[in-house]
Amino acid sequence: MSNGSELSSMATLQQHGDIAVIMINNPPVNALSLGVREGILEGIKQADADDSIKGIVLACAGRTFIAGADITEFGKPPQSPSLWDAMEAIENATKPVVAAIHGTALGGGLETALVCHYRVCDGAARFGLPEVKLGLLPGAGGTQRLPRVVGVQKALEMVTSGKMIGSAEAAADGLVDQIVDGDLTEGAIAFATKVVEEGKPLVKIRDQNDKVEAARAEPGIFDAFRRKIGRKTRNFEAPEANIQCIEAAVNKPFDEGLAIERELFGKLMSGNQSAAQRYYFFAERQAAKVPDIGRDTPVREIKSVGVLGAGTMGGGISMNFAQAGIPVTIVERDQAALDRGLGVMRKNWERGAKKGRMTMADVDRLMGLITGSLDKNDFADKDLVIEAVFENMDLKRSIFKELDGICKPGAIMASNTSYLDVNEMAAETSRPGDVIGMHFFSPANIMRLLEIVRAEKTSADVLATVLKVAKKINKVAAVAGVCGGFIGNRMLAQRQVEANNIVLEGATPAHIDQVLYDFGFPMGPFAMSDLAGLDIGWDEASSSSSTMREVLCESGRRGQKNGRGYYVYDPETRASSPDPEVEQMIRDFAEKQGIEQRDVSDQEILDRCLLPMVNEGAKILEEKKAIRSSDIDVVWVNGYGWPVYHGGPMFWAELRGLADVKAGLEKYGAGLEGEHWKVSPLLAELAEAGKKFQDLPAQNIE
Ligand code: 3HC
Ligand code: NAI
Repeated sequence: MSNGSELSSMATLQQHGDIAVIMINNPPVNALSLGVREGILEGIKQADADDSIKGIVLACAGRTFIAGADITEFGKPPQSPSLWDAMEAIENATKPVVAAIHGTALGGGLETALVCHYRVCDGAARFGLPEVKLGLLPGAGGTQRLPRVVGVQKALEMVTSGKMIGSAEAAADGLVDQIVDGDLTEGAIAFATKVVEEGKPLVKIRDQNDKVEAARAEPGIFDAFRRKIGRKTRNFEAPEANIQCIEAAVNKPFDEGLAIERELFGKLMSGNQSAAQRYYFFAERQAAKVPDIGRDTPVREIKSVGVLGAGTMGGGISMNFAQAGIPVTIVERDQAALDRGLGVMRKNWERGAKKGRMTMADVDRLMGLITGSLDKNDFADKDLVIEAVFENMDLKRSIFKELDGICKPGAIMASNTSYLDVNEMAAETSRPGDVIGMHFFSPANIMRLLEIVRAEKTSADVLATVLKVAKKINKVAAVAGVCGGFIGNRMLAQRQVEANNIVLEGATPAHIDQVLYDFGFPMGPFAMSDLAGLDIGWDEASSSSSTMREVLCESGRRGQKNGRGYYVYDPETRASSPDPEVEQMIRDFAEKQGIEQRDVSDQEILDRCLLPMVNEGAKILEEKKAIRSSDIDVVWVNGYGWPVYHGGPMFWAELRGLADVKAGLEKYGAGLEGEHWKVSPLLAELAEAGKKFQDLPAQNIE
């Protein structure tokens, strides 16, 4: 093959016999940046004009085929040539164009492959239209071409979930024409040669109507599909717009469908939901970046893990490591607790197997990676030890002292504490640099957030190692500094204080929960308290009816676990309904406290629950307990169900305008008590300067 000539800064044209290879090179993911579009357009033009060329292969250097449009270009003035120009050139080329796909063909990348006349891939290639995750739809013909290839049902699933399919499935669906063994580019050249030699047609998917016509006979499929995904996609705009595009693919001629796709794409792109989701895409990737940690920061090898405590958290934490192939030794204080913990883990995996997510052999293999023990000395050779014992400072301190005597030099010692001071735990050891917080969320085998707590003396390589471990066990990490409740629980506490206040002023728990549910949280604060258990941290002996929670616990209400809390729960279905008795108890309690009941508006509920959270977030930044505001959003979206289409509390506040947020805090703060109404000086400063949290540079945790 020739070395090739440059087509643009991001593509070359190479010649192999009578086949031209347009090779795209735009690391890391070959996004469709300007130089890529220029390269494709120029490459097709040159190959088309050259009589010695009979066929064209479109391939990518590096780790993947095109992974989509360049998201960093969104929201900026468009630069010519557009993706549509490049795609039109491919589809209308006079010679067959074969896409050679490895890695992930995503979004605009898959759409580019769909205008090629043929597609080949390697065995590991994956395909998807993930635009919905960015609050968008495939805006370059994907909604019109995909159903013409894979059928309407499959296309609906792919565009509304954004999930990828593998090469075998793609081949079975007709999305790829051949899976190549061995060198992909060579295989694609051979395929193109065959197409030329056999005089095969230049297939244009736009002209293939069989599958969309077949779906016309079943008009009910769209509403059935809407019902199927309705709960998951509640409040999101993009899934519905994606469905409408596929409906257009079925019911309209190709070009009309394309016009509808373009119009709806434009609407989504200029809306707040997509802005939030695109912001969030980068927020998640930023969160793994720590200013004083670079590529040259050494990392320690983590090949074995110890977990202390096989309770709710210890079990879930251990499952993560086993699933990543890392053996875990889990230590409990007695055999019964250990057996219970191991039993729960097995049952969880078995449930996954029953749902077809793994086989029973997988369950056995995973359980084989877990060793139960009653002896902490078994931690002696472990690279990382995580304690998940009760939330009690004296206990945690004594544990760290003990671990210091057991763990080998260089081992990392971590705490899963929700609120407590990791500095104090570190101070019990002779090696505070090796101590760190790893705050998992419940259920720890499912929730994606890992809040990493960088204590005062945590060394950079320990933090770098834990960030790497987080990625390995498929968690999204965000780094916090030591403060009560770190980022997430510290902000949650502000919301709970205000929700409790509002309930005494006259809004029912169900009303408050409904407002937050409508905003997009999976559940409101009272439903969440019932789920967690009202008696967490409640002590019967010292309970004195001083809070609503105490009053409820004293009356035997423990939450979902005994079917009665702020709500009553149906023993069969676990469905909740408001409890008039509880509402009366609240009114009685308020009267005793001298609090007058009144109507509280939805807007007041929302503002009073959310504005203090933003204020607390600003205080967290001010105290340097978070690196950047978007990390706070990552914590809230991944750990607490903040709806991603609102970006996270800090992004939501910025969209609303920090001046408006400040004014809201001052308005409510004038009549209400509490530190949480005192406007953070940082928030005030930014509001006055017309700036955003995002304008602040990343800072080191202190
Ligand atoms: N545009 C710009 N940058 C992108 C990008 C894109 N489409 N996709 C990834 N990147 C960047 C990331 O921000 C990251 O940058 P960083 O190193 O500076 O943090 C870098 O590429 C590597 O990304 P990841 O860390 O995510 O790498 P992984 O290997 O874990 O994952 C991936 C690779 C699966 C391709 C993942 O990056 C991904 O899902 N990307 C987004 C794909 C996507 O949404 N495509 C659709 C775009 S919208 C579109 O195409 C519209 C069209 O229909 C018109
Ligand atoms: P849990 O009560 O379910 O489990 C704690 C386990 O630790 C028990 O099985 C107990 O037998 C064991 N244990 C206690 N002392 C021990 C010792 N000295 N040696 C060995 N084992 C011992 O508690 P849970 O909920 O798992 O919480 C553990 C930690 O995780 C706490 O610090 C908690 O704050 C934190 N956490 C809890 C979350 C939750 O939602 N439950 C979420 C995030 C963090």
